[in-house]
Amino acid sequence: MAIPDSFLQELAERNDIVDVVGGYVRLTKKSGANLFGLCPFHSEKTPSFSVNPEKQIFHCFGCGKGGDVINFIREIENLSFPEAVEFLARRAGLEVPAEGDGDLRQRRDRLLALNRAAARFFHEALLQPAGQPGRDYVARRGIAPALVRRFGLGYASDNFYSLTNAMRAQGYTEAELVEAGLSNANRSGKGVHDIFRDRLMFPVIDVRGQVLAFSGRILGDGEPKYLNTRDTPVFSKSRNLFGLNLAKKSKSGYLLLAEGNIDVVSLHQAGFDSAVASLGTALTPEQARLMARYAKEIILAYDNDAAGQKASARAIGILEKLDLKVRVLRLEGAKDPDEFLRARGSGAFRKLLEGSADHVEFLLDGAARGRDLSVDAEKAAYLREAAGIVAALPSPVEREVYAMRLSEQTGVTKSVVLEEVERLRRRQAKGEERRRDREAVRSLRQTVQPRDRALRYENPRSAIAEEGVVRLMVLDPALFGPPERSIEPEEFSSPLLGRFYRALRERAAAQGTLSLSALNGMFTPEEMDHLTAILNKPEVLANGAQALADYIAVIRSEGRYRAAAGDLLALAEQKRKQLRGQR
Ligand code: UTP
Ligand code: MN
Repeated sequence: MAIPDSFLQELAERNDIVDVVGGYVRLTKKSGANLFGLCPFHSEKTPSFSVNPEKQIFHCFGCGKGGDVINFIREIENLSFPEAVEFLARRAGLEVPAEGDGDLRQRRDRLLALNRAAARFFHEALLQPAGQPGRDYVARRGIAPALVRRFGLGYASDNFYSLTNAMRAQGYTEAELVEAGLSNANRSGKGVHDIFRDRLMFPVIDVRGQVLAFSGRILGDGEPKYLNTRDTPVFSKSRNLFGLNLAKKSKSGYLLLAEGNIDVVSLHQAGFDSAVASLGTALTPEQARLMARYAKEIILAYDNDAAGQKASARAIGILEKLDLKVRVLRLEGAKDPDEFLRARGSGAFRKLLEGSADHVEFLLDGAARGRDLSVDAEKAAYLREAAGIVAALPSPVEREVYAMRLSEQTGVTKSVVLEEVERLRRRQAKGEERRRDREAVRSLRQTVQPRDRALRYENPRSAIAEEGVVRLMVLDPALFGPPERSIEPEEFSSPLLGRFYRALRERAAAQGTLSLSALNGMFTPEEMDHLTAILNKPEVLANGAQALADYIAVIRSEGRYRAAAGDLLALAEQKRKQLRGQR
């Protein structure tokens, strides 16, 4: 990462985290040094998302996400590190130093150019004589030439080297082809071959028009039916949507979310130009936030099967808390939008759109399904489930409206329904609060282990003290210095904490004050989450010098213990060798 520390420091100073976060999250509560609001990264009803103005960090006690202002922007705006830096620089009216982050950017640019060249290659292959199998398939799926052009569809032949050879001829290296997820190493270890073969190719293009990846539909039968580019330095499946490059220009005011790429193409062909699909994954919060930037209303057009229903219910949960209006289409008599359009035409689909149920109706229908409401016991069970759905609605007006509807539907008086709704609501709120308290206690308890299993501490007692040293290095570097309060990273039992300490100490020596931003490029997002969690624990600052000396004493005594145990092992090993030598 070549963005100079001094610039990151300035960036952090000019973008106060409270201001920046305030643009996305209403910070409604103050507790101790922290401001609290509803976490934008996971679903919750009581606030466990905290911002600490003093330390300029955020941390969610519920989902564990945390970091500085740059981490926050990366997460919420769905950006890479250099993009987030640019975003904040623009916000503060700063200019990112010219050669900033040159290496990574160059590498990414190279991969994007390669992807673009590959997309052109596949597209041309589809139009050439040898592309007949691809064209036959396109015709069989009823996709018109105009749509082939609009989506840049292409053809990957069943040859193992067509793309690889063509791209090598254009100067791309084998390593680049592998890094882009287009080629795999041959088994022999020598050379590489095409990953996408015998497929109709859908380029995945982002809102800036960059080709990030591909999704390939097998032409015949065969597994897998769809093959997607694995995540690469320029592509993250969970953060992109197929078709958004086109749908973002739609004037419809909503986005149509389907499951399949073919569904998206068919919908656009039928005039529904705001269709997107989530690339073979269940909708992720990142994808939902991406959609929220382009539309205030999302219409779900998932497959008409059990899996699709379940996926809809999940997606509703994610979309709802972004304040998006959600409706759900019921594709009666067809498996998916593509089939529906073929069987019934675009007029029927338009009708469906106009009459599509809002998501509450969809969930209530789900609760009623399979229940005979003329049987008292089943009616009661339905009411209980339905009241739970209504209780989760944030608006009292909505709760009232749906309670009324439930009352009409079941013949139970409205006041009784409402009473049940409010009772469940209190219970939901209490459950949520209790859960949050438990989380908070857990994350404050001193023996907490990192969430990421790969980062687990081997010696928790020593690690607690090491965390303390790390915290004090951020809060008050001036404490360190005198011999009884000096410690080397090598003395730490946890390599990760040792690395935090070393990095922080170097930064503190160089510039007096410290910002986490300077560390961003040196640690993974998981490691940054963990560092933030450490910094968020309370620290005894009143007598920082004593605390530091105590921490160091603990680390040293644990270290001696480890060394002694190591010596014993070495001694035993030596003895064994001696014995073996005597025999
Ligand atoms: P479907 O199997 O429902 O696709 O998968 P579909 O669009 O109806 O397929 P056809 O072409 O009409 O037969 C829906 C989506 O799930 C992802 C793809 O993104 C696909 O468009 N998927 C499916 C995969 O990623 N891998 C698979 O093997 C299958
Ligand atoms: Mn289909």
